[in-house]
Amino acid sequence: MTDIITHTHVSHGDFHCVESRLEPCSLVIFGASGDLTVRKLVPALLSIFQRGLQPEEFFILGCARSRMTDEQFRGKLRLELKQQADGPAGAMTDIFLKRCYYLAGDYPELEFYSTLGKKLEELEKRHSGPGNRIYYLSTPPALFEVIVSRLGALGMTAEPGDGSRWVRVVVEKPFGRDLPSAMELDTRLARVLKENQVYRIDHYLGKETVQNLLMFRFANVVFEPIWNRRYVDNVQITVAETLGVEHRAGYFEQAGQLRDMFQNHMMQMLALVAMEPPSSFDADRVRDEKVKLLRSVRPFDAGELGRSVVRGQYGPGSVGGTGVPGYCQEEGVSPESRVETYVAAKIMLDNWRWQGVPFYLRSGKRLARRVSEIAVTFKTVPHLMFTEVNPEHLMSDVLVLNIQPEEGVSLTVQAKRPGPKVQMTPLTLDFHYRSVFGRSLPDAYERLLMDCISGDQTLFIRHDEVAAAWGLLTPVLEAWEEQQARPALYPAGGWGPGEADDLPAADNRSWRRLEA
Ligand code: BG6
Repeated sequence: MTDIITHTHVSHGDFHCVESRLEPCSLVIFGASGDLTVRKLVPALLSIFQRGLQPEEFFILGCARSRMTDEQFRGKLRLELKQQADGPAGAMTDIFLKRCYYLAGDYPELEFYSTLGKKLEELEKRHSGPGNRIYYLSTPPALFEVIVSRLGALGMTAEPGDGSRWVRVVVEKPFGRDLPSAMELDTRLARVLKENQVYRIDHYLGKETVQNLLMFRFANVVFEPIWNRRYVDNVQITVAETLGVEHRAGYFEQAGQLRDMFQNHMMQMLALVAMEPPSSFDADRVRDEKVKLLRSVRPFDAGELGRSVVRGQYGPGSVGGTGVPGYCQEEGVSPESRVETYVAAKIMLDNWRWQGVPFYLRSGKRLARRVSEIAVTFKTVPHLMFTEVNPEHLMSDVLVLNIQPEEGVSLTVQAKRPGPKVQMTPLTLDFHYRSVFGRSLPDAYERLLMDCISGDQTLFIRHDEVAAAWGLLTPVLEAWEEQQARPALYPAGGWGPGEADDLPAADNRSWRRLEA
């Protein structure tokens, strides 16, 4: 009964994607010696460059505290680009690196910004740039406001009224650490920037499969009529990672999984899967619907928190056959740490479409397998006419949007097993991006950087979305703080703490099994 037959045959029409050159601009990266810059931003920018989309005038100016010459900075980038498994090499990389410059300075010092201003003007002259600028904040969050206010004080965030040049600021997460701090940060940014200059980035929104969710829901007629409480039994959103805290203990000890993954990526996926159809694919219309959805999440009951939110922390265990330490034994982590590395939550939405449908969300580090997916499980048929089939054996149809690592979509339905008897079996219709489109998907940062250069904010988070997500999660953080309890331990390489199973079990449901 439970064998799964997999059938793959998907045809796609000719797809012509005409890519046009981006507008000329410069990109200033604050936090240029950090991990994100070398591992994500620069490779994404190089890839855009290699596709011939960067105009001649484009250049990058990296800023950080450590002293380095332009050449040393380029050497560091070159080394990192080489180390990337499928990393590009060759002449294009050298030409690209020649457009990378570096400036060291102390972020709180106003003098640094006047030096920066002069350097930018000089480079813009050298590259014949029109003065369009993106400032990318890839620093620890405590510096966001410091940098933006200093730029503002020197008039470096101002855009001329005639629209002849633009200035945009990309803000990495975390955007605040709770509702009050996020609102405070917003107020401070708003003193020098208009909302249309602020690009709050959530790299999950740049993932092809996450974007495909919109196309899937709103460009097909077959799914929308059943996308509601009448047909959907439950929705599960999973982001499981095998990695532990790595070398980010300093950050993670202050953050924890709820801030690191839930406030942003998980809530964004929830919003996209459950929101109403926007009237157009326009930044504000899409974001209006996401905010509306986030505001319809039923607040967690702090008194009964354990019934809807479970947190865990990985202990020692083994991942992929290799023994790994527990979170508290990781370098830079307090042996007494109460920081959570896993969160599972049951979310109810108080609106017409989803009343009574549970959304189960889980995300954790050091789990058994790296997998991110959104699974929509449908109700079973109201009456089963096949008397030979035990109704208890009837399985639900499930639609799974595989976000990573194997990007695709699959739909499991019930089908007849060949033969004279009435025998039913689940059959999975599978579509993999790789086999259909035959090329690796662009990195999320690539797409988002291009959108920022093009001035498209659709895939960036608006201030009210941030507030709505924090508004929901801040009481959870406060309750945890008050309880002073340790998260439930789970062995590294498992599927999280057993307590998480109680969330769906209380509704006679269970988590989807995601073993390889
Ligand atoms: C980041 C988190 O935003 O997302 C990390 O800070 C996490 O802790 C990462 O590992 C996961 O992203 P991806 O794209 O690898 O799923």
